Amino acid sequence: MTNVVVPAVINLDVTGPVISRHLYGHFAEHLGRCIYGGFYVGEDSDLPNAAGIRLDVVESLRALNIPNLRWPGGCFADEYHWMDGIGPKDRRPVMVNTHWGNVEENNHFGTHEFMALCELLGAEPYISGNIGSGTVKEMSDWVEYLTREGDSPMVRLRKANGRDEPWRVRFWGLGNEAWGCGGNMSAEQYAAEARRYGTYCRDHGDNKLYRIAAGANSDDYAWTETLMKSLGTLGCAYRPTSFVQALSLHYYTVPGPWHDKGDATVFDTDDYYRTMVQAARVDELLTRHSDIMNCYDPDKHVGLVLDEWGTWWNVEPGTNPGFLYQQNTLRDALVAGLHFDIFHRHADRLVMANIAQTVNVLQAMILTDPESGALVLTPTYHVFEMNKGHHDAASLRVDLLSAAPARVIGSAPLQTVSLSASRKEGRVLISLSNLDAAEAADVDLDLRGGSVTDVRSRILTAGRLQDHNTPEAPDTVAPRPHQQVVPTASGLRVHLPAHSFVTVEARLA
Ligand code: AHR
Repeated sequence: MTNVVVPAVINLDVTGPVISRHLYGHFAEHLGRCIYGGFYVGEDSDLPNAAGIRLDVVESLRALNIPNLRWPGGCFADEYHWMDGIGPKDRRPVMVNTHWGNVEENNHFGTHEFMALCELLGAEPYISGNIGSGTVKEMSDWVEYLTREGDSPMVRLRKANGRDEPWRVRFWGLGNEAWGCGGNMSAEQYAAEARRYGTYCRDHGDNKLYRIAAGANSDDYAWTETLMKSLGTLGCAYRPTSFVQALSLHYYTVPGPWHDKGDATVFDTDDYYRTMVQAARVDELLTRHSDIMNCYDPDKHVGLVLDEWGTWWNVEPGTNPGFLYQQNTLRDALVAGLHFDIFHRHADRLVMANIAQTVNVLQAMILTDPESGALVLTPTYHVFEMNKGHHDAASLRVDLLSAAPARVIGSAPLQTVSLSASRKEGRVLISLSNLDAAEAADVDLDLRGGSVTDVRSRILTAGRLQDHNTPEAPDTVAPRPHQQVVPTASGLRVHLPAHSFVTVEARLA
């Protein structure tokens, strides 16, 4: 049987917007075993750690060049009081994490521990402040504590806690999901709060804050429109970005209803295609939210930040329903690959994206075993690793010369071949996904405006979409060299087996 051939043109010398490395951002919430038992095991752990931070987790994530880490939530952010998490650990108050599992939170992982984690990772901190149950003063003090130099009440407190120099913290979230767990506010009410909080979160010295307002859920376009109207972003009337620099958006890939989202590893081909249709929907959402932002901010001063995305399945049987622990299969990896192609195409407005969440929660990069401590890299981890050449690279437009292969799922079309490309420092990286569960495809890349040499390709696939990695079989879904890339008169032909993710890297000759 001959494969479908997809002809695609890439002009190597015509670059588009830069793909910010922050599109490959991460998210760590005080939720389940993400912080405690994931990133942070405590100084007394038998596992190698630096002041309680698990070193094999750090080492694995450093290999991804993770650009930023959002913390402490999520919903937890709006009930977190940062002063509870500083000073001697034995004097930090205990609270109940009412959002996630109703468990006690001893505050042993607080501001200093988070900043130490970011330093170990080489990642920029992205702190979500508390608007829901906090105060303007509390948030303003936190900014001062972290970023001010010299002498001031908060600086003296920081120094008393062992840190003389200020940290640099650019990314600052003004609450989280204000339409829901962050205070159940109306858009108008939140916009007023965001203006107030945004005003008193000051730039100290040369630490210029990038304030991110809590944006819409999924297709709530009215929320985006209200914020754009009210946050002083109307270019003709005000300085466009005075109170906030960006709006967020949250969108999860959830193919089933919330009460039964589907299992992470037990699913059939129909479930798989429904998942991919939901994942592809992020394109429509980014387009429409951007369209609204374009009306109020045509010069794109205000960024769009998709600071929660990823798959959300039923929790693994026998685990705490409030801990959101789920397995991660080849299907999750293909969801990630598809998201990144879409993100790259929206790089003019989309300035940051954060997968939910990095360790042991939702679509994680890393799963750890609570008993043995064994660490497993998920299929999703490998997509982040294979795609890291896109960080801060100039996007290259990809044009298909004929309709891409597609399936109709319910009434929705699903394009089953997806690709994106970029160039940086004399190298080109092309990412290609074949989302078809059964059929292979070939992509004929017509590379114009340059030629390539030293072509290297890797593939992430497995026998079954349900395949995943475990401590006993950690490399069931792991990248392998891909030999089926051949030169043609005008470029390269790349073979894509069914349900595969492939990267092709080359040097520009
Ligand atoms: O990522 C899990 C939760 O999903 C976050 O806490 C919240 O912001 C969202 O609803």
